[in-house]
Amino acid sequence: MDRVPEPELMESAEQARVYAEADFSESNSLFVQLFRHHFPLLAPRHVLDLGCGPADICIRFAENYPDAEVTGVDGAEAMLVFARDAISQSPAGKRIRLLRNHIQHVNADKYDVIISNSLLHHLADPHDLWRAVRRLAEPGAAIVIMDLMRPSSEAEVESIVATYASDEPEALRRDFYNSLCAAFTVSEVSKQLSANDLTELSVEAVSDRHLLVYGQLEISSEF
Ligand SMILES: C[S@@+](CC[C@H](N)C(=O)[O-])C[C@H]1O[C@@H](n2cnc3c(N)ncnc32)[C@H](O)[C@@H]1O
Repeated sequence: MDRVPEPELMESAEQARVYAEADFSESNSLFVQLFRHHFPLLAPRHVLDLGCGPADICIRFAENYPDAEVTGVDGAEAMLVFARDAISQSPAGKRIRLLRNHIQHVNADKYDVIISNSLLHHLADPHDLWRAVRRLAEPGAAIVIMDLMRPSSEAEVESIVATYASDEPEALRRDFYNSLCAAFTVSEVSKQLSANDLTELSVEAVSDRHLLVYGQLEISSEF
């Protein structure tokens, strides 16, 4: 099945509300578990979450890693409204800052950890994510990026939506369907990593609908 791209930013207030109110606790806690699994001894200091949306993963990171300062970046003000509210309710919220910006334009600081969940499939040009990783990562940085994985047929997309979202509102089911169609395959992501000279990162399927990119950049890399 060919990829069908979707818009980058989630700028509609209604789309952001439906997304922010949905329960992603299973996949978001899987994200933190996978990070710990791949970097069991790491104590993150400066964490960057690209396409942070309502900041649930920023909050989980700040709560799990008491020494971490977490920066979440998202281009959609509609999402950041929900992110600010969620952060204000977390005891770890003081260690989280939010930037409203396109990931393509973030260029200030460097980070020892870069994370991202469910952003890649939104990008018109997937290389924008890998260029941001190269630009913003310190040498030796830990990278963990999770995204949906494109199924091989529309029938499989429908089956995944029915399995995991049958009780969700129609708007969320439609978003999920479109996101699966916009996602990349493991083989496509592997080619993206090679094209961006990020072959120290690995990519693999971690569920029937998610893929994970993980690894540590070379200490000697010059960015
Ligand atoms: C599906 S949401 C994922 C949010 C969050 N990472 C999570 O796991 O819940 C994707 C987010 O990426 C943001 N986004 C998409 N393209 C972006 C870009 N080029 N720069 C910054 N943010 C972007 C969208 O606005 C949206 O909030």
